[in-house]
Amino acid sequence: MASDRGYFITLEGCEGSGKSTQLALLNDYFKSNNKGVVFTREPGGTPISEDIRKIILDVKNLDMTDETEALLYASARAQHISEKILPAVNAGKIVICDRYIDSSFAYQAYARGLGFDFVSGINAFAIKNCMPDLTIFYDITPREAFLRKGGADEGDRLEQSGIAFHERVYGGYIALTEKFPDRIVKIDARKSKEEIFDETVGILKRRGIII
Ligand code: TYD
Repeated sequence: MASDRGYFITLEGCEGSGKSTQLALLNDYFKSNNKGVVFTREPGGTPISEDIRKIILDVKNLDMTDETEALLYASARAQHISEKILPAVNAGKIVICDRYIDSSFAYQAYARGLGFDFVSGINAFAIKNCMPDLTIFYDITPREAFLRKGGADEGDRLEQSGIAFHERVYGGYIALTEKFPDRIVKIDARKSKEEIFDETVGILKRRGIII
Protein backbone atom coordinates (compact mmCIF):
# COMPACT_ATOMS: atom_id res chain seq x y z
CA MET A 1 0.00 0.00 0.00
CA ALA A 2 1.42 3.43 -0.97
CA SER A 3 2.31 5.50 2.10
CA ASP A 4 0.03 8.43 1.18
CA ARG A 5 -3.00 6.21 0.78
CA GLY A 6 -5.47 6.15 3.68
CA TYR A 7 -7.51 3.20 4.92
CA PHE A 8 -10.91 1.87 4.07
CA ILE A 9 -12.58 0.24 7.07
CA THR A 10 -16.07 -1.25 7.17
CA LEU A 11 -18.22 -2.20 10.15
CA GLU A 12 -20.66 -5.07 9.87
CA GLY A 13 -23.16 -6.90 12.01
CA CYS A 14 -26.76 -8.01 12.33
CA GLU A 15 -29.43 -5.54 13.35
CA GLY A 16 -29.06 -4.73 17.04
CA SER A 17 -25.39 -5.76 17.11
CA GLY A 18 -24.35 -2.45 18.71
CA LYS A 19 -22.64 -1.28 15.52
CA SER A 20 -24.28 2.17 15.73
CA THR A 21 -23.12 2.63 19.33
CA GLN A 22 -19.56 1.79 18.30
CA LEU A 23 -19.78 4.23 15.39
CA ALA A 24 -20.86 7.01 17.75
CA LEU A 25 -17.96 6.18 20.11
CA LEU A 26 -15.51 6.13 17.20
CA ASN A 27 -16.86 9.49 16.06
CA ASP A 28 -16.16 11.02 19.50
CA TYR A 29 -12.75 9.34 19.65
CA PHE A 30 -11.60 10.71 16.32
CA LYS A 31 -13.08 14.14 16.98
CA SER A 32 -11.06 14.50 20.17
CA ASN A 33 -7.94 13.10 18.47
CA ASN A 34 -8.37 15.50 15.57
CA LYS A 35 -7.68 12.94 12.83
CA GLY A 36 -8.82 13.07 9.23
CA VAL A 37 -11.57 10.50 9.33
CA VAL A 38 -14.59 10.25 7.06
CA PHE A 39 -17.66 8.48 8.42
CA THR A 40 -20.17 7.20 5.93
CA ARG A 41 -22.84 4.54 5.58
CA GLU A 42 -24.54 2.12 3.24
CA PRO A 43 -26.90 2.10 1.61
CA GLY A 44 -26.22 5.82 1.21
CA GLY A 45 -23.29 8.17 1.69
CA THR A 46 -23.89 10.37 -1.38
CA PRO A 47 -27.06 12.18 -2.51
CA ILE A 48 -27.74 9.64 -5.29
CA SER A 49 -27.03 6.68 -2.99
CA GLU A 50 -29.27 8.16 -0.27
CA ASP A 51 -32.09 8.44 -2.85
CA ILE A 52 -31.57 4.77 -3.73
CA ARG A 53 -31.62 3.96 0.01
CA LYS A 54 -35.09 5.52 0.31
CA ILE A 55 -36.41 3.28 -2.47
CA ILE A 56 -34.88 0.13 -0.94
CA LEU A 57 -36.08 0.73 2.62
CA ASP A 58 -39.50 2.19 1.77
CA VAL A 59 -42.19 0.11 3.53
CA LYS A 60 -44.46 0.49 0.48
CA ASN A 61 -41.95 -1.43 -1.68
CA LEU A 62 -42.71 -4.85 -0.24
CA ASP A 63 -43.09 -6.23 -3.80
CA MET A 64 -39.44 -5.61 -4.59
CA THR A 65 -37.79 -8.72 -6.01
CA ASP A 66 -34.61 -10.03 -4.46
CA GLU A 67 -32.76 -9.35 -7.70
CA THR A 68 -33.96 -5.71 -7.80
CA GLU A 69 -32.92 -5.25 -4.20
CA ALA A 70 -29.43 -6.70 -4.80
CA LEU A 71 -28.94 -4.51 -7.88
CA LEU A 72 -30.09 -1.37 -6.05
CA TYR A 73 -27.65 -1.99 -3.19
CA ALA A 74 -24.89 -2.49 -5.76
CA SER A 75 -25.94 0.69 -7.64
CA ALA A 76 -25.85 2.75 -4.47
CA ARG A 77 -22.43 1.26 -3.72
CA ALA A 78 -21.07 2.03 -7.20
CA GLN A 79 -21.84 5.72 -6.74
CA HIS A 80 -20.60 5.74 -3.15
CA ILE A 81 -17.22 4.16 -3.85
CA SER A 82 -16.38 6.37 -6.82
CA GLU A 83 -17.81 9.67 -5.55
CA LYS A 84 -16.84 9.51 -1.89
CA ILE A 85 -14.87 6.54 -0.57
CA LEU A 86 -12.07 6.24 -3.13
CA PRO A 87 -11.32 9.98 -3.40
CA ALA A 88 -11.04 10.19 0.41
CA VAL A 89 -8.84 7.10 0.73
CA ASN A 90 -6.65 8.31 -2.14
CA ALA A 91 -6.29 11.65 -0.34
CA GLY A 92 -4.84 9.81 2.68
CA LYS A 93 -7.98 9.76 4.83
CA ILE A 94 -9.33 6.96 6.99
CA VAL A 95 -12.83 6.08 5.78
CA ILE A 96 -15.10 4.23 8.21
CA CYS A 97 -18.19 2.89 6.51
CA ASP A 98 -21.27 1.54 8.29
CA ARG A 99 -21.92 -1.60 6.17
CA TYR A 100 -20.52 -2.36 2.72
CA ILE A 101 -20.21 -5.37 0.41
CA ASP A 102 -20.36 -7.95 3.23
CA SER A 103 -23.91 -6.77 3.98
CA SER A 104 -24.83 -7.70 0.40
CA PHE A 105 -23.15 -11.07 0.86
CA ALA A 106 -24.85 -11.74 4.21
CA TYR A 107 -28.31 -10.35 3.36
CA GLN A 108 -28.72 -10.88 -0.40
CA ALA A 109 -26.38 -13.80 -1.14
CA TYR A 110 -26.91 -15.92 1.97
CA ALA A 111 -30.19 -14.80 3.60
CA ARG A 112 -32.21 -14.06 0.44
CA GLY A 113 -30.54 -17.05 -1.22
CA LEU A 114 -29.20 -15.32 -4.35
CA GLY A 115 -25.86 -17.06 -3.90
CA PHE A 116 -22.36 -15.75 -3.37
CA ASP A 117 -21.30 -15.88 -7.03
CA PHE A 118 -24.23 -13.81 -8.31
CA VAL A 119 -23.87 -11.13 -5.64
CA SER A 120 -20.10 -11.14 -5.99
CA GLY A 121 -20.44 -10.70 -9.77
CA ILE A 122 -22.75 -7.67 -9.72
CA ASN A 123 -20.67 -6.06 -6.98
CA ALA A 124 -17.38 -6.69 -8.77
CA PHE A 125 -18.82 -4.61 -11.61
CA ALA A 126 -20.08 -1.94 -9.18
CA ILE A 127 -16.97 -1.48 -7.03
CA LYS A 128 -14.17 -2.28 -9.48
CA ASN A 129 -12.41 -4.47 -6.90
CA CYS A 130 -12.27 -1.79 -4.18
CA MET A 131 -12.46 -4.02 -1.16
CA PRO A 132 -12.04 -2.77 2.43
CA ASP A 133 -8.58 -2.97 4.01
CA LEU A 134 -10.26 -4.11 7.21
CA THR A 135 -13.76 -5.20 8.21
CA ILE A 136 -14.89 -5.46 11.82
CA PHE A 137 -17.79 -7.83 12.42
CA TYR A 138 -19.73 -7.28 15.66
CA ASP A 139 -20.63 -10.84 16.50
CA ILE A 140 -23.93 -11.42 18.31
CA THR A 141 -26.77 -13.71 17.25
CA PRO A 142 -30.00 -11.96 16.19
CA ARG A 143 -31.89 -13.68 18.99
CA GLU A 144 -29.55 -12.30 21.64
CA ALA A 145 -29.53 -8.88 19.96
CA PHE A 146 -33.33 -8.71 19.70
CA LEU A 147 -33.75 -9.75 23.33
CA ARG A 148 -31.24 -7.12 24.41
CA LYS A 149 -33.07 -4.49 22.36
CA GLY A 150 -36.51 -5.55 23.59
CA GLY A 151 -38.08 -6.61 20.25
CA ALA A 152 -38.01 -5.44 16.62
CA ASP A 153 -38.87 -1.95 15.34
CA GLU A 154 -42.16 -1.81 13.46
CA GLY A 155 -41.42 0.81 10.81
CA ASP A 156 -38.75 -0.78 8.68
CA ARG A 157 -39.45 -3.24 5.86
CA LEU A 158 -36.28 -5.24 6.45
CA GLU A 159 -36.75 -5.51 10.18
CA GLN A 160 -40.19 -7.01 9.48
CA SER A 161 -38.62 -9.96 7.66
CA GLY A 162 -38.58 -11.97 10.87
CA ILE A 163 -36.12 -13.75 13.04
CA ALA A 164 -35.50 -16.67 10.63
CA PHE A 165 -34.22 -14.23 8.01
CA HIS A 166 -31.91 -12.57 10.52
CA GLU A 167 -30.59 -15.97 11.62
CA ARG A 168 -29.66 -16.64 7.98
CA VAL A 169 -27.94 -13.24 7.82
CA TYR A 170 -25.94 -14.19 10.90
CA GLY A 171 -25.00 -17.54 9.33
CA GLY A 172 -23.86 -15.61 6.25
CA TYR A 173 -21.60 -13.40 8.31
CA ILE A 174 -20.04 -16.42 10.02
CA ALA A 175 -19.39 -17.98 6.59
CA LEU A 176 -17.80 -14.70 5.47
CA THR A 177 -15.45 -14.59 8.47
CA GLU A 178 -14.27 -18.05 7.39
CA LYS A 179 -13.98 -17.07 3.72
CA PHE A 180 -12.05 -13.83 4.39
CA PRO A 181 -10.08 -14.51 7.60
CA ASP A 182 -7.42 -11.88 6.93
CA ARG A 183 -9.79 -9.05 6.12
CA ILE A 184 -12.65 -9.67 8.58
CA VAL A 185 -11.98 -9.46 12.32
CA LYS A 186 -14.67 -10.62 14.73
CA ILE A 187 -15.47 -8.95 18.05
CA ASP A 188 -17.72 -10.62 20.62
CA ALA A 189 -20.58 -8.08 20.70
CA ARG A 190 -22.18 -9.60 23.82
CA LYS A 191 -19.62 -7.71 25.90
CA SER A 192 -20.13 -4.23 27.34
CA LYS A 193 -19.98 -1.31 24.92
CA GLU A 194 -16.79 -0.09 26.66
CA GLU A 195 -15.05 -3.45 26.23
CA ILE A 196 -16.16 -3.66 22.60
CA PHE A 197 -14.87 -0.16 21.96
CA ASP A 198 -11.49 -0.96 23.53
CA GLU A 199 -11.23 -4.00 21.26
CA THR A 200 -12.23 -1.93 18.22
CA VAL A 201 -9.51 0.65 18.92
CA GLY A 202 -7.06 -2.19 19.69
CA ILE A 203 -7.63 -3.70 16.25
CA LEU A 204 -7.06 -0.32 14.57
CA LYS A 205 -3.80 0.06 16.51
CA ARG A 206 -2.58 -3.46 15.78
CA ARG A 207 -3.17 -2.90 12.07
CA GLY A 208 -1.18 0.34 12.19
CA ILE A 209 -4.22 2.40 11.19
CA ILE A 210 -3.95 4.60 14.28
CA ILE A 211 -1.03 5.03 16.68
P1 TYD B 1 -30.16 0.55 8.48
O1 TYD B 1 -31.37 1.15 9.11
O2 TYD B 1 -29.02 1.45 8.13
O3 TYD B 1 -29.69 -0.69 9.36
P2 TYD B 1 -28.53 -0.85 10.43
O4 TYD B 1 -28.69 0.23 11.43
O5 TYD B 1 -28.78 -2.22 10.97
O6 TYD B 1 -27.22 -0.77 9.68
O7 TYD B 1 -30.68 -0.20 7.19
C1 TYD B 1 -29.85 -0.86 6.37
C2 TYD B 1 -30.50 -2.18 6.02
O8 TYD B 1 -30.06 -2.58 4.74
C3 TYD B 1 -30.14 -3.29 6.98
O9 TYD B 1 -31.27 -4.09 7.20
C4 TYD B 1 -29.15 -4.12 6.18
C5 TYD B 1 -29.58 -3.91 4.78
N1 TYD B 1 -28.53 -4.04 3.75
C6 TYD B 1 -28.58 -5.10 2.86
O10 TYD B 1 -29.49 -5.93 2.90
N2 TYD B 1 -27.63 -5.19 1.89
C7 TYD B 1 -26.63 -4.28 1.77
O11 TYD B 1 -25.78 -4.40 0.88
C8 TYD B 1 -26.58 -3.19 2.72
C9 TYD B 1 -25.50 -2.16 2.63
C10 TYD B 1 -27.55 -3.11 3.69
